[in-house]
Amino acid sequence: TAILILNGPNLNLLGTRQPDVYGHTTLADIEAMCRNKAKALGIELGFGQSNHEGALVDEIHGARGRFDGIILNAGAYTHTSVALRDAISSVDVPMIELHLSNVHAREEFRHKSFISAVAVGVICGFGARGYALALEAMLGHLESSG
Ligand code: DQA
Repeated sequence: TAILILNGPNLNLLGTRQPDVYGHTTLADIEAMCRNKAKALGIELGFGQSNHEGALVDEIHGARGRFDGIILNAGAYTHTSVALRDAISSVDVPMIELHLSNVHAREEFRHKSFISAVAVGVICGFGARGYALALEAMLGHLESSG
């Protein structure tokens, strides 16, 4: 089993970016935590980040046939991108939508997600721990959808 964790714009700045909202954990910390978790679960992990919408689309296309699931923190593109939604719809790879913050407790414009409708499920509000939760959730989904 191989799972791709894909991070969108500004998430490269985690740790220093609005720590009151996103915490002090860096993306490198999150990657290390996910790699440990993946090893413990006996799965392969891909981990990426881009600030560019088209690059994220390319990563999603590239996941076809290589990964069994995608965990996607699309950052602000969550709330704007038809292209990311269409990319997910175009590859036969289940996706879990992830956010560090509880987007529903924040500004109105963060309440709308273009990608939720094409996600298996959504995890938000648990900070960096959400990544570990999403890995477990994806494994459970893959096992039950067999
Ligand atoms: C985010 C929430 C988005 O609204 C925001 O634009 C981000 C990060 C989160 O992880 O909480 O960049 O996806």
